[in-house]
Amino acid sequence: MGCIKILSDAISNRIAAGEVIERPASVVKELVENSIDAEAVKITVQVENAGTKLISVTDNGRGMDSDDALLCLEPHATSKISHAEDINRIYTLGFRGEALPSIASVSRLRLRTRRHDDIEGSEVLIEGGKFAETNPAGCAPGTEINVRELFFNTPARRKFLHSRSTEERHIQETLWGLALGHPAVSFELIMDGKTVFSSPCCKSLLPRIQTFFGKELQDNLIPVDASGPAYRISGFIARHGFTKNSRREQRVFVNSRPVESPSVFAGIRDGYGSLSHDGRYPPVFIFLDMDPALVDVNVHPAKREVRFRESREVTSFISSSIRDALRNSQAPTVSVSRDLPLRSILAGADISYAPKKNVQDSIGGLGKAVESDIKIPVRGSQLEVRPFKPQTGPSNTAERPVEQDFESVSELRILAFLDKTYILASSANGLVIIDQHAAHERVMFERILDSAGKSRTLSQKLLIPSAIELSRSEVMFLEKHRKHFMALGFEIESFGANTIIINSIPDGLHQDNLKGLFSDMLADLMDEGKSNGKIDEAAIARAACRNSVKANDLLSFEEARSLLHQLSRCELPFSCPHGRPAVINISFKELEKRFGRRK
Ligand SMILES: Nc1ncnc2c1ncn2[C@@H]1O[C@H](COP(=O)(O)OP(=O)(O)OP(=O)(O)O)[C@@H](O)[C@H]1O
Ligand SMILES: [Mg+2]
Repeated sequence: MGCIKILSDAISNRIAAGEVIERPASVVKELVENSIDAEAVKITVQVENAGTKLISVTDNGRGMDSDDALLCLEPHATSKISHAEDINRIYTLGFRGEALPSIASVSRLRLRTRRHDDIEGSEVLIEGGKFAETNPAGCAPGTEINVRELFFNTPARRKFLHSRSTEERHIQETLWGLALGHPAVSFELIMDGKTVFSSPCCKSLLPRIQTFFGKELQDNLIPVDASGPAYRISGFIARHGFTKNSRREQRVFVNSRPVESPSVFAGIRDGYGSLSHDGRYPPVFIFLDMDPALVDVNVHPAKREVRFRESREVTSFISSSIRDALRNSQAPTVSVSRDLPLRSILAGADISYAPKKNVQDSIGGLGKAVESDIKIPVRGSQLEVRPFKPQTGPSNTAERPVEQDFESVSELRILAFLDKTYILASSANGLVIIDQHAAHERVMFERILDSAGKSRTLSQKLLIPSAIELSRSEVMFLEKHRKHFMALGFEIESFGANTIIINSIPDGLHQDNLKGLFSDMLADLMDEGKSNGKIDEAAIARAACRNSVKANDLLSFEEARSLLHQLSRCELPFSCPHGRPAVINISFKELEKRFGRRK
């Protein structure tokens, strides 16, 4: 006789429960999702002893009749799908018919439920998966489920629970996620008799964000709203430069389901043009809506992850939507006060800029002479702006002299330089501080990227080609990504097994210490490839700028001014390509506050 047996329902339910119900927060998630699916507009969650003693979820949703009250606790019992093809059009949060039997198999559960039109409701008691009692019950319309002594019959699972505060934090985080995804539902969380939060239903997401994450974060958000043929994105994203040190404030909802998705995170990272391997994450609260057939929600036991049919499309849709939202936002980067974007400061100076595509100036300032300097009409006159050139670099004799009245043309007056790092300027509204290194990196990054792939890629031919010895892995890496390097204006030849010859580099990059630049760049990129997996032109340009721009260059006023002009023409002028702020404003309002002149 063979040795294979079919497991009893009790055992298989408990095994399934192990996957679905990891900790008290999983119970909260499943019960609240059921309440949302039942179209409740008021959900109250009560927890005792971090959920190990009691988790109670009460809703005013549609309720169940007495038959369903019993049936819902059976495995694979669901009202949400009935045919195999329904799996491709799931609009509800639940669909498997697994949550309630799983919870019931590892706790003592009491269900009370009543439909709105019924005169009385039903009560079902079930302990460790075994039905104990069913009775008619006098209860309010809706459903109340009490889960007591979670994991009482699975002591190993109970032992794996973390400290009380950790489990409470998970419960709160879970509920925040669901509440953010459903602003039209009112939520209350009570822990050990104390209200932790109570969030009435709201039309907009912002009050809820403020309740959960504070006013400062809310003040630093801008809306995002875009539609493509297959997707729509809405919600709020952080202004450029406002970042946090964890992903906690990156909340993503796909068809209102809170999810974690690498494709979405990649889109966010690309959209901001910054990498998260430096440990900073811009907060985002985004809702992605799409035909349910384009997303598989059945890939994770806790329904936390989803798989997109066209994940690259999703990534690029998110990335371009975020980019557009940032570009359209008037507000500046991280700042003590956020009233004063650089663009508007400069706009206040009556300066209009030549269209971006006409810009030909040398940004690094270390390249060849400028063919056509930018003409900037200023109060009726024509002002020439020279390219930015750090004083420590080689001199550029072909530059033309600068107008005497350069300082007077703008209300943004450069006041001083601090620590060979910051440009201090005054505007009509206060003090503006520019990190010259970050600003220069941004300007150079956009310029290099702008010319990438164009037939007229701007690159500087080296008078003396530079031979560089690389390690085997560096050579292989370079080979693999050669086309991206070429697109940016690097002209590289192999010379022997481990030696390469560089004939050209993108215009604006420093030519001095090319060996150092190249090996630092490759080290950065190889690291990035490991953590992020994606090496493209943007990644290479970022690495090139990071390693080419040097801090501590002493600038002249004129060079600083030119840098600001160039920065103001950038698409995302308020941060460096790695997401750190390039400009900070301190408004007079802020100064007055600090000096106690106003409250
Ligand atoms: N709060 C509730 N109000 C009304 N009906 C409910 C409620 N909770 C559960 N139900 C009913 O019980 C059924 C079973 O719930 P259960 O959570 O086990 O499965 P599901 O939600 O269908 O799928 P999943 O396992 O993915 O959550 C639901 O399909 C629903 O019909
Ligand atoms: Mg469910």
